[in-house]
Amino acid sequence: MTQRKIILGDDAVPKRWYSIIPDLPKPLPPFIDPETRTPGVGIVPKLYPKEIIAQEISKDRWIDIPEEVREVYGLWRPTPLFRATRLEKALKTPAKIYYKYEGVSPPGSHKPNTAVAQAYYNMKEGIERLATETGAGQWGSALAFGCMMFGLRCTVYMVKVSYQQKPYRRVMMESFGAEVHPSPSDRTESGRKILKEDPDNPGSLGIAISEAVEDALTHEDANYGIGSVFNHVLLHQTVVGLEAKEQLETVGDYPDVIYGCIGGGSSFSGLFWPFYHDKVSGKAEKDTKFIAVEATACPSVTKGEYIYDHGDTARLTPLVPMHTLGHDFIPPPIHAGGLRYHGIAPTLSLLVSEKKVETKAYNQVEIFDAAKLFIRTEGIIPAPEPAHAIKGAIDEALKCRETGEEKVILFLLCGHGYFDMQAYDDYFSGKLLPYEYPKEKVEEAMQRLRKLYPWLDDLKKLI
Ligand SMILES: Cc1ncc(COP(=O)(O)O)c(C=O)c1O
Repeated sequence: MTQRKIILGDDAVPKRWYSIIPDLPKPLPPFIDPETRTPGVGIVPKLYPKEIIAQEISKDRWIDIPEEVREVYGLWRPTPLFRATRLEKALKTPAKIYYKYEGVSPPGSHKPNTAVAQAYYNMKEGIERLATETGAGQWGSALAFGCMMFGLRCTVYMVKVSYQQKPYRRVMMESFGAEVHPSPSDRTESGRKILKEDPDNPGSLGIAISEAVEDALTHEDANYGIGSVFNHVLLHQTVVGLEAKEQLETVGDYPDVIYGCIGGGSSFSGLFWPFYHDKVSGKAEKDTKFIAVEATACPSVTKGEYIYDHGDTARLTPLVPMHTLGHDFIPPPIHAGGLRYHGIAPTLSLLVSEKKVETKAYNQVEIFDAAKLFIRTEGIIPAPEPAHAIKGAIDEALKCRETGEEKVILFLLCGHGYFDMQAYDDYFSGKLLPYEYPKEKVEEAMQRLRKLYPWLDDLKKLI
């Protein structure tokens, strides 16, 4: 019998993170300060410790993981890699399907891989509290956990619709010692402004980011922690791919194709970057394809424009080069809360634009159909976000059934869905609709963006 669960020994927790920056096909375009219209990081240095800023702009390929961080990682890392033999059988596919499972972390997803590191560097530089936003509640839980590990306080602004849909995520964050507020809230200028215009505003990640950033900027003792998009976050996630590569090596396999869901792009990048490094350094055994999967309700890469935009609704952040649906995007309240961000990591945008990464989008009914088959074969209930990657992997395996190809498919199961029972209840009772975000809405948002910054297209030469 092929080994279904591939585990490495405790000493296999990676010692270094891998950065894709020196291996990108062209230099990453800079952030732009909209005041000066020149490269500038705006408020960024006021929000993060020096070590994180250094990692954000570092050109180094390998960065040492501090021993204190590795020690906390050791609570759940290395995570298991599974061969989905029961799913393969159900699909009658000649393909081999592997998945790396990050749901075994204490908060239940990949997010603590960076949360622990961020809390550590802030603690080292004397910061006492971190403020952040959360969509699905996964990132908030992770930062609450990271702060708890290093004795920091944590304040979480949780997108209101998720706060209402997922009360137990709030309780988890509170169990880890965090304070949680539904966003938009009346605690910040940006929250109050939005509530005044629209008291029933369901919230968005963009709004919650504005609130958390404002909190950090207006309090000396506090910094801000971000769960995705930034280079340092994606860097910290590479423990996932580095382990997966080693685990596959032990069974003599190498992926032909890698699937991951994308909200901001951190989990997928964490998985595929080390394989991308193999490819560009001529070490790869195969011409592996990297496929990012998003929600049709929030199609940043498949329908958004690759342009400079703000990372948050209140336009506190500098302009970031990325695929975007517009910083004023109010997402439909789909259950994959972690995929409801308007933008995407600049590194991923660059790789998509250079055709190094392919993209796909699925609606929420399709992804829950895939999740159901996965649950009923593999037994794990996935979070709605990675159900997008499962759908991609299943479609690929079905293609292999037609062509007879024995591809090795790897996907990331980046979190469990044990707090997503409402979503599953809605799905099983037929209440979910296959929503597609209209292209016209993206075009309208781009018109508003160009009206705000009539010179915006001049920056296109940078990307
Ligand atoms: C379980 C899970 N998967 C995926 C995501 C999407 O983020 P990213 O693309 O950065 O991994 C989130 C974000 O909250 C999440 O909670």
